[in-house]
Amino acid sequence: MIQANETTFRLDTANSTYLFRKTKYGHLEHIYYGTLLADFDDVDVLAQKRTIQVGSSVLYDESDSVYSLDSICLEWSDNGRGDYRQSPTELKMPDGSFVSDFIYVGYKIVENCVTMKTLPTAYGEAETLIVTLKDTTNELYVDLYYSVFAEANVITRRAVLRNETDVMITIRRMMSMALDLPDENFQMYTLDGGWIKEANIHKHPISYGIVTNSSTTGASSNRHNPAFLLAEANANEEYGNVYAFNLVYSGNHYSAVEKNERDYVRILMGINPHCFDWKLASKEQFETPECVMTYSNRGLNGMSHQFHNFINNNIVRGNWKKKERPILLNNWEAHFFDFNEHKLLQLAKQAKELGVELFVLDDGWFGERNTDKAGLGDYTVNTKKLPQGMKAFASKIKALGLDFGLWFEPEMVNSDSELYRAHPDYAVKLPSKQAVLGRNQFVLDLCQEEVRDYIVKQVGSILDEANISYVKWDMNRHIAEAFSTAIENQGEFYHRYIIGLYEVLERIFCPRPHILLESCSSGGNRFDLGMLCFSPQIWSSDDTDPIERLKIQAGLSYFYPLSTMGAHVSQSPHQQTLRDTPLATRFHVASFGCLGYELDLKYLSPEEKKDITEQIAFYKQYRNVFQYGKFSRMKTYKSNKVMWQCISEDRKTALTGLFQTLATAAESSDKLNVTGLEKGKYAVHTRPQRLYIERFGGLMKHVLPVELNPDGMILHVANRHYSLRDCIESYICSDNALRAGIPLCEQFIGTGYNEKIRMLGDFGSNLYIAEKINEED
Ligand code: GLA
Repeated sequence: MIQANETTFRLDTANSTYLFRKTKYGHLEHIYYGTLLADFDDVDVLAQKRTIQVGSSVLYDESDSVYSLDSICLEWSDNGRGDYRQSPTELKMPDGSFVSDFIYVGYKIVENCVTMKTLPTAYGEAETLIVTLKDTTNELYVDLYYSVFAEANVITRRAVLRNETDVMITIRRMMSMALDLPDENFQMYTLDGGWIKEANIHKHPISYGIVTNSSTTGASSNRHNPAFLLAEANANEEYGNVYAFNLVYSGNHYSAVEKNERDYVRILMGINPHCFDWKLASKEQFETPECVMTYSNRGLNGMSHQFHNFINNNIVRGNWKKKERPILLNNWEAHFFDFNEHKLLQLAKQAKELGVELFVLDDGWFGERNTDKAGLGDYTVNTKKLPQGMKAFASKIKALGLDFGLWFEPEMVNSDSELYRAHPDYAVKLPSKQAVLGRNQFVLDLCQEEVRDYIVKQVGSILDEANISYVKWDMNRHIAEAFSTAIENQGEFYHRYIIGLYEVLERIFCPRPHILLESCSSGGNRFDLGMLCFSPQIWSSDDTDPIERLKIQAGLSYFYPLSTMGAHVSQSPHQQTLRDTPLATRFHVASFGCLGYELDLKYLSPEEKKDITEQIAFYKQYRNVFQYGKFSRMKTYKSNKVMWQCISEDRKTALTGLFQTLATAAESSDKLNVTGLEKGKYAVHTRPQRLYIERFGGLMKHVLPVELNPDGMILHVANRHYSLRDCIESYICSDNALRAGIPLCEQFIGTGYNEKIRMLGDFGSNLYIAEKINEED
């Protein structure tokens, strides 16, 4: 709910209040962001008290010794009038200076969200407050948009700059929002990494000075995801104040958290000012991306639950909103570029037998794309690989009872391609230099209308020709040498590229709403809310090693729901880490996401095929809980354990994964903790899982009546057809007992073996199902 008058503005969500007011000089003073206030709470009581002059400060008005912009919590601030913190704007004003002074001129409240011309926004039931500020000297206006998503406990903010002067001005920095909070000894959590190590969480103490989180690669990037949070000192997964922020944007982003000498913490978020320079002509306006904010006093999990709901309800849109995602098989790691129709159909047939629902043909099906050195840009079917074309091939996949999906990398071109030979000018490059390569490719210049039209036509015609229900949209290099022949001012390149990208995605996918779009950028190089406005799921990482995924998926889970994370079971030893992990663990980790498989099924043993068939059947049974249940990172008291949990919407079912990273000798016992269930009686059991006997080598002699050569043929053959069952536990208990924690059976420590010993070892895991039972039972 929004309550406003000419002086105070109060924005309430179900559990939070956001409050600011106009000062007597017309600046917007931030008063409060936190737990929901009472109706009678008064702004003067909550405001920072200004009762003394701060030394070494610049006064805004010489008659007012306590009013210095540097020591006020503000909603928006300027350069050059006494506030020395980072400003949300840097505008070259008509007089050539960088001094601005935006003060209040009015407000309005509108129902719903207000869409933008150039960028996607959150949508759904909301109220929007628009507060207009005007520069005291020039006809320049800033409209601050606040959309309140009450149920979701989310407030979004963005700013629009309007140039009503008669001259062009230059924008060197225009943030989406600025917010000043009193310090709580914050820790800032960011998601950082690179290729195959995306979204690892890092904590930064907020001390005096500035901590930034930004990208310069042209995308939201695998280096630093735009999302971050501020947690009060000592907050943990369950307790404490947490403020979280994200940006509906896929390009270069910038956030800064700055603590000043008055112990106020300024938060800025928006487009990265790095290499940014925008000419705003008279009567034009500049839209900034929407910043999404949430506050929780229930710790990190509480914050995550709010963002998860918000993304499922107010960011992801179209036919796939809240819809269960299909279990897919992607042929990339099975074949790379080396396939033909026979190989593909064999793979698809086996996938179908295991219960897979969607077959995805990855890179290599078009042009001369037989290595990553050629073919990008030419989306005509390679008839050596698919002799009867895409339509016929898609029909064959459909005839097997599978849906069909296709990979594209539409934003890129290889120099060895028909497209590049015909249109070298479509590539991003400087007129004066040989362009640098990344993964042997150039970026197509989406600032050019002709390039955008080409992509829309090429991709669109393949989608219409064949029966395609899923697209993987890849983007495999960072932008360099940003330059477009389509624009005069190259400081506009990065932002115009992203506006072009959104236009292309909208033109291709809005008319084809049945298609499930999974975006990808060498894995999670563009995992952001902007892409999620078009693609309901994103390939989280090229790294499918489950132990690495424990970090990657946990990192993403702070800000993004499991329904958005593509997660696949792949081969072991793993292609990037060489780590050998049990099939059960690969499945357990991938099931906390949108499950897929990505390996050559023909090499599976009969026992592994049975295993995967059971995994898929299990996942189908609980898919909704995994994808849309309430996900929490559970506390564990040991550093070699990770515990994740999903609770169904009706709170009657809990799925808990308990993962062991490295085994320790004589490991002490573990507990299964489950929180958030409805009151009542629960049946708890372990998901049955196979133990492959080859893993135990010579140790098998302890459980078999005969001695076997640990490297011998017999053990190898037996391993293909025979397995042991890991310890299955089952209990009846209350929700409270589960909350307190059920002690689990001991782990194997070398002193004996029986069916009540859990066999985890390095990288082992168990999955537990807790389901409510009728009291009469
Ligand atoms: C990227 C993707 C992979 C795969 C390859 C194909 O690396 O992240 O999943 O599609 O491209 O070239």
